[in-house]
Amino acid sequence: MKVLIVGGGGREHAIAVSVSKSERVEQLYCAPGNAGIGQIAQCVPIGVMEFDKIAAFAKEKEIDLVIVAPDDPLVGGLTDVLEKEGLRVFGPRKNAAIIEGSKAFSKELMKKYHIPTAEYETFDSAEKACEYLERASFPIVLKADGLALGKGVLICQDLQEAKDGVKAIMLDKQFGSAGNRLVIEEFLTGREVSVLSFVDGKTIKTMTSAQDHKRAGDGDTGLNTGGMGTFSPSPFYTEEIDAFCRKYIYQPTVDALACEGREFKGVIFFGLMLTEKGPRVLEYNARFGDPETQVVLPRMKNDIIQVMEACIDGKLDEIDLQFEDNAAVCVVLASKGYPAAYEKGFVINGLERFDGQDSYFCFHAGTKESEMGIVTSGGRVLGITAKGKDLKEARANAYAAAKWVSFENKYMRYDIGKAIDES
Ligand code: AMP
Ligand code: GLY
Repeated sequence: MKVLIVGGGGREHAIAVSVSKSERVEQLYCAPGNAGIGQIAQCVPIGVMEFDKIAAFAKEKEIDLVIVAPDDPLVGGLTDVLEKEGLRVFGPRKNAAIIEGSKAFSKELMKKYHIPTAEYETFDSAEKACEYLERASFPIVLKADGLALGKGVLICQDLQEAKDGVKAIMLDKQFGSAGNRLVIEEFLTGREVSVLSFVDGKTIKTMTSAQDHKRAGDGDTGLNTGGMGTFSPSPFYTEEIDAFCRKYIYQPTVDALACEGREFKGVIFFGLMLTEKGPRVLEYNARFGDPETQVVLPRMKNDIIQVMEACIDGKLDEIDLQFEDNAAVCVVLASKGYPAAYEKGFVINGLERFDGQDSYFCFHAGTKESEMGIVTSGGRVLGITAKGKDLKEARANAYAAAKWVSFENKYMRYDIGKAIDES
């Protein structure tokens, strides 16, 4: 079959690697892809929001399955556009992707269906939000309603900081129209864990757990980023927690969406906080996580195409989803300065070391082909993933492999997965 992946980052490279392992796939395309994806797929220069061009390309090439990976096109309704053209698509429709597209919507859904999450209020006016804050206790969390490149969440320590935050989001529109509405939420403490799951509208099968490191610097310091590294599984995600989440969070979320006439088919990413009072949902995403996917998919035993088709056909109950009994760690190699200003265009050396390896992966995020070879083209450049029998070994392997690659201004955190050594 012919498959088209929409997207072009580390997550899409990890998906592409899994897809290319499927015996059923004869031809793989990626729009727009990147230099690493280009080694296993044919990249086409179409942007993820160019819906008409994606549809025209998929029809012309007679694509059998389109996989939509990033949040923007999912929330914007690419799945609906492609389905209208008669194409088969993996990824939720617009009316279901809203669980990521609107935090106000997802909070309301959780409240209505008694799914455990932080207490909250939603506001359409900055004035009302500030009035509420006068009576609130701190710290408190402000969330722009819409998509904000993962940056629309502010944790405010006092009233002044919170009022400044309301102004930045709702009046100055720092995140554009995403800030037309605001969710103000109770501040929770605990371990964070990401659980990705396949969903076919009614059945949900969770993948192995993972944890992201969002801050730029060691010891969780510095600015928030798109993710500097991940590990899987999370040792804090115990069987007891899993049983609780299955009963009170996962299936109830799928049932709630179905009940609202918003059947969800695709991947639901549960961002959980393991609090003293039990697990709480911090956020839903309507897609694979980045860089969680880079540690989760390399451990999956199933043929990903078979699982995706089962989701589309409502037959996920027939799939026995299985993961290897090992661990994986992904260390992101970034450009120095990221997530603020950084330089790009530097030649990357050492990539060939990963050829033919099965326990080491070099997922490309911000790279491109040039006359000089493969060069850096983004803040997050590569995700170096390694497997090991346990997290400690996977971590040692990932840091060893991170040294195989060199480019000017290479930057990484040195403590990805470190807390786990001490647990
Ligand atoms: P989100 O985009 O909703 O995942 O939020 C981004 C990050 O903000 C999360 O990964 C948490 O670290 C933090 N966060 C979000 N909501 C809360 C909350 N209610 N309490 C504490 N931290 C939070
Ligand atoms: N790693 C967090 C996300 O994909 O949103």
